[in-house]
Amino acid sequence: MGYERMGHNPAHTVTWGFIMISTVFRYAAVLTVLSMVLSVDARGNDAVIQLPAPTFESDYSLEEAIFSRRSVRSYTADSVALEDLAQLLWACQGITSPRGYRAAPSAGALYPLEVYVVAERVKDLPQGLYHYQPGQDIGNHSIELIDPEVSLQDVANAALGQKCIQTSACSFIITGVVELTRKKYGERARQYVLLEAGHAGQNLCLQAQTLELGAVTVGAFHEEPLRRLLGVDHLPIYVLSVGIPDHGSR
Ligand SMILES: Cc1cc2nc3c(=O)[nH]c(=O)nc-3n(C[C@H](O)[C@H](O)[C@H](O)COP(=O)(O)O)c2cc1C
Repeated sequence: MGYERMGHNPAHTVTWGFIMISTVFRYAAVLTVLSMVLSVDARGNDAVIQLPAPTFESDYSLEEAIFSRRSVRSYTADSVALEDLAQLLWACQGITSPRGYRAAPSAGALYPLEVYVVAERVKDLPQGLYHYQPGQDIGNHSIELIDPEVSLQDVANAALGQKCIQTSACSFIITGVVELTRKKYGERARQYVLLEAGHAGQNLCLQAQTLELGAVTVGAFHEEPLRRLLGVDHLPIYVLSVGIPDHGSR
């Protein structure tokens, strides 16, 4: 059969038409599946919240912050700003160098600390348990929602029902991955990780002071219930409660 004759055969025209239509449908199906996959990814990323970039200057001097810091255990019902939450997290474990160094010193720059925050009264942030992600670059940090059901009451329950946690706007939990440090420092690891949590906790307290927030460090808690709450096998080291200070009842 010659080429010209094929082109004029109505049966072939129908066949080509069918092939073209089915190809279009196949592409459409592939695009639909692709867009479904992408939207699932987008939904997954909803759990990660980019934080406001921290500021690196303030009118509040370090000396003034050291001098005036006191443990504050009574808070008003007001919410803390998301910018302030971001600043506190950055001061605690944020990135301060293009080489990945952080705000608090770390033995061997291994950074075994993880920071969690249970937020109940933070503006523009739904209640829940979040995990801090310091990120790779200075100021490019985020939090990931771990569990929207976790409340401050849950944290307080693990900490002898301490009211300062229950009534805080948010409470931070610093944990340590001791095994990370143990690989390099052996039996000194636990001590090093505890020291690091002290550095990070103090940074957070002094930063809270400069933001005129009230903060208290809490060490009286049971480790196991906190571990269960966080869903990790790290060592829970410190709980830090933060809120707007209620000067009337301090
Ligand atoms: C390791 C450690 C654990 C602490 N645990 C608690 C605690 O569980 N509950 C609490 O209300 N305060 C706790 N505090 C805060 C101390 O009570 C407080 O720092 C102390 O009374 C001194 O007061 P100041 O922080 O105002 O200088 C703790 C402090 C440290 C350093």
